[in-house]
Amino acid sequence: MLDSEVFDRDDLFSRLRRRPDVEAPNLTAVDAADRLILDEGAAALSAASPGTLTVIGDHYGALTLGAAVTHGATGIRVHQDPLTGELALAANAATVGLADRYRACALGEELLAGATVVLMQLPRSLGELTEVAETIARHADPSVVVYAGGRNKHISTAMNDVLGRSFSDVRATLGRQKSRVLIARGPRDSAQQTYPVTDHLAEIGLDVVSYGAAFAGPKLDIGTRYLLDFLPRVNPRARAAVDLGCGTGILAVSLARLLPEVSVIATDQSSAAVASAAATARANGLDGRVSTLRDDAMSSLATDSQDVVLCNPPFHVGAAVHTGGASKMFAEAGRVLRPGGELWTVYNSHLGYRGRLQRLVGRTDVVGRNPKFTVTRSVA
Ligand SMILES: C[S@@+](CC[C@H](N)C(=O)[O-])C[C@H]1O[C@@H](n2cnc3c(N)ncnc32)[C@H](O)[C@@H]1O
Repeated sequence: MLDSEVFDRDDLFSRLRRRPDVEAPNLTAVDAADRLILDEGAAALSAASPGTLTVIGDHYGALTLGAAVTHGATGIRVHQDPLTGELALAANAATVGLADRYRACALGEELLAGATVVLMQLPRSLGELTEVAETIARHADPSVVVYAGGRNKHISTAMNDVLGRSFSDVRATLGRQKSRVLIARGPRDSAQQTYPVTDHLAEIGLDVVSYGAAFAGPKLDIGTRYLLDFLPRVNPRARAAVDLGCGTGILAVSLARLLPEVSVIATDQSSAAVASAAATARANGLDGRVSTLRDDAMSSLATDSQDVVLCNPPFHVGAAVHTGGASKMFAEAGRVLRPGGELWTVYNSHLGYRGRLQRLVGRTDVVGRNPKFTVTRSVA
């Protein structure tokens, strides 16, 4: 028997970690929804043939590895939009010796062809749920049963409606430990695929393309809107810039349009964001100077390599409001900027990030403040 061998689900769950995502005492790697999804799906998982289980939106591996440990599942296909989730699952699977039980796939046919059971953590946005539901209905086996769970506080009746547009039978289980599972059957025979969507934002003169899981969809976030006002003050001699946490790439494309000599890397950990930013750059004829990169807080970029970083940082880590994600980005900006390089950031004023920016990047000036947001310029 291997040292790493896992005996049961509780043993497995006690060993799961979130890294490289933010780790803190109030942030867990397994939640009650993971347990409920696995329990509700238990009979289907036991009956499933090898290679017919798909897992979507697993946070850190509890669903994938839980199915492997409890039901001996093999050939599991997994899609996780955030790279940190993908890396955490890989690290957890390696720790417990189950790396050969699953493979990572993009959201599409490769993930779902022939799937009869889908386990998923419900995403926060209805856009992401729409895209996932439509993709399952389109590609999975007609007999597929979807077990989609989450914490009650994040589940709305609109989610039933979204699932109901792609499946003929949707019902909710009884709740347990403030969690619930929606079970969907009967994929509807329709070819509808809502995403990607394109919107023309007349206010800023850009076509914005968005996949379901991209932050703000094809709309303009009001914090981003405010930061855009300050782009004319970015160092005009900048040649290398990064849009860190790029979402649909509005900041990257706007900077490239403003400064004809600059090359911008639009980077995000979300696969939907990176695909959206690439499509937005193409739609505006700027794909020659805006490249995209799926990465965790630009960790693969060289130290002292950039003139400018633009950032509208997240204030959520998964579903929890937490500032750890922003700190990680600021620290990486401090590393990646060359001496004298600039980080331009927008944040909700109550978060008071200035001291943190000063410590992690360098001298930080507040360059704008409106009733809601603060924009700062930090010099490395
Ligand atoms: C507030 S949104 C801003 C999106 C876009 N820049 C805009 O202005 O509309 C923050 C973005 O950071 C991304 N993000 C969160 N954690 C990240 C990480 N560790 N590495 C890279 N991107 C991350 C999210 O996926 C999200 O797209």
